[in-house]
Amino acid sequence: KILVLDYGSQYNQLITRRIREFGVFSELKSRKMTIDEIKDYVPKAIILSGGPKSVYADDAFTIDPEIFRLGIPILGVCYGMQLMAYVLPGGKVLPNDGNGEFGQAALHFDENSLLFANTPEGQKVLMSHGDSVEAVPEGFVVAAKTDKTKIAAIADDDKKLYGAQFHAETTLSEYGNQILKNFVFKIAQCQANWQMKDFINDQIEKIRTEVGNKKVLLGLSGGVDSSVVAVLLHKAIGRQLTCIFVDHGLLRKNEAKLVMESLAGKFGLNIIKVDAQKRFLDKLEGISEPEQKRKIIGKEFIETFNDEAKKLDGIDFLAQGTLYTDVIESGTDTAQTIKSHHNVGGLPKEMHFKLIEPLRTLFKDEARKLGEEMQMPHALVWRQPFPGPGLAIRILGEITEEKLAVVRDSDAILRDEIAKAGLEDSVWQYFTILTGLRSVGVMGDGRTYDWTIAIRAITSVDGMTADFAKLPWDLLGKISERIVNEVGHINRVVYDITSKPPATIEWE
Ligand code: XMP
Repeated sequence: KILVLDYGSQYNQLITRRIREFGVFSELKSRKMTIDEIKDYVPKAIILSGGPKSVYADDAFTIDPEIFRLGIPILGVCYGMQLMAYVLPGGKVLPNDGNGEFGQAALHFDENSLLFANTPEGQKVLMSHGDSVEAVPEGFVVAAKTDKTKIAAIADDDKKLYGAQFHAETTLSEYGNQILKNFVFKIAQCQANWQMKDFINDQIEKIRTEVGNKKVLLGLSGGVDSSVVAVLLHKAIGRQLTCIFVDHGLLRKNEAKLVMESLAGKFGLNIIKVDAQKRFLDKLEGISEPEQKRKIIGKEFIETFNDEAKKLDGIDFLAQGTLYTDVIESGTDTAQTIKSHHNVGGLPKEMHFKLIEPLRTLFKDEARKLGEEMQMPHALVWRQPFPGPGLAIRILGEITEEKLAVVRDSDAILRDEIAKAGLEDSVWQYFTILTGLRSVGVMGDGRTYDWTIAIRAITSVDGMTADFAKLPWDLLGKISERIVNEVGHINRVVYDITSKPPATIEWE
């Protein structure tokens, strides 16, 4: 395994993720790990991450130089390389004096350098530094430079100590992956034998040690993250885990059933399903303003969860499906814990839970791989994004049971047709909206005056920006025909062809 010590760069989890993709386990740990703790961890290699500070800052993050005498291969990235040059004899770091370099630069390297094996001369790398290394420490050579930065990489092949000023972990370094691979396989001699199932086994071990014979509570939403955590915890501690699944009646067709049948049924999880449809509908009665709807649902959700949680005795832990992307603050220090506690927002004061967040080092696609590895149903693992307030924000204006049935049924038809067309993976998100519009139509020989359904289907990478999906006309025609025929009170179907921005993905 490869230990990445965290000096605060926004890219630090990307390093561990790349290395895991190579089939070698890697974890990000606090820079405060002591030499003894590092020895106990027995890493095959260590990477010192980049960071936002200067080694000359008053509150600069430091390093115990003893680490360089452990005989473990080390790669310092950006700040990590500067730390090496700063603490090792003979090295020198030049403070920021306008010599920094930001953006992509062509790299010229020493062709004997192991770090750059199988990569081309002149390749682009991502530079992003204010300070620069001015002199290499004793025993090191300059392994690469750019036109602007005369020491862009350093190497001591005998001691297996390396530094790179650029960020090999980002895709803006064209051959960054190969450079990291060279360090991991050629220099540190790791074997590619780690798989997601090893992660599962490690986590199970960890959870058992931490929880002992105590009890854990989890709020299950039906989404990927909380479902994956639920199954993982269940594997570790079985019935010591209690899940609360609040069905607010705003889920899609058959969704609550899928959760219960697969997780409670097939996997045998201990799930308390709270049928709160009426409670939510009552609170939402007469409310048509979107923000007000969202607030009511958010508040009601927490209260419903709390009402159930209060009925349980002797719970010590609260588990959450927090992913790395939810952890805004980088690192493994105190800042993180503070952030997580914010997520618990609204839990009754008399409940003092300790948090368990087994997915917090993973990215979304890794959480999905984990779910697949645990044989979870495809529909749960590959579920498209779904907003917390659910179908409520897909009915413009006031919510009624009848309107809910209309969005739910039209959405089910849309999903069915998209699946039949084999487009599930290429369209990022798709759903129907019950617009507040009524219009005149003709059905049979009679006049109708009924509702309009809108179809929204988008392509996106992260939901921050989006474009409308260019669905085939025939497919749209088929969906429209089915909705009008199979769902009551619809006489018109329209397709939303706005991108985000200026529109948002959801209509409310
Ligand atoms: P918008 O409508 O803001 O949506 O363009 C961007 C993405 O976020 C989802 N979304 C939500 N997800 N709680 C959530 O968990 C919410 O309140 C919420 N509102 C929107 C939306 O479905 C889309 O994927």
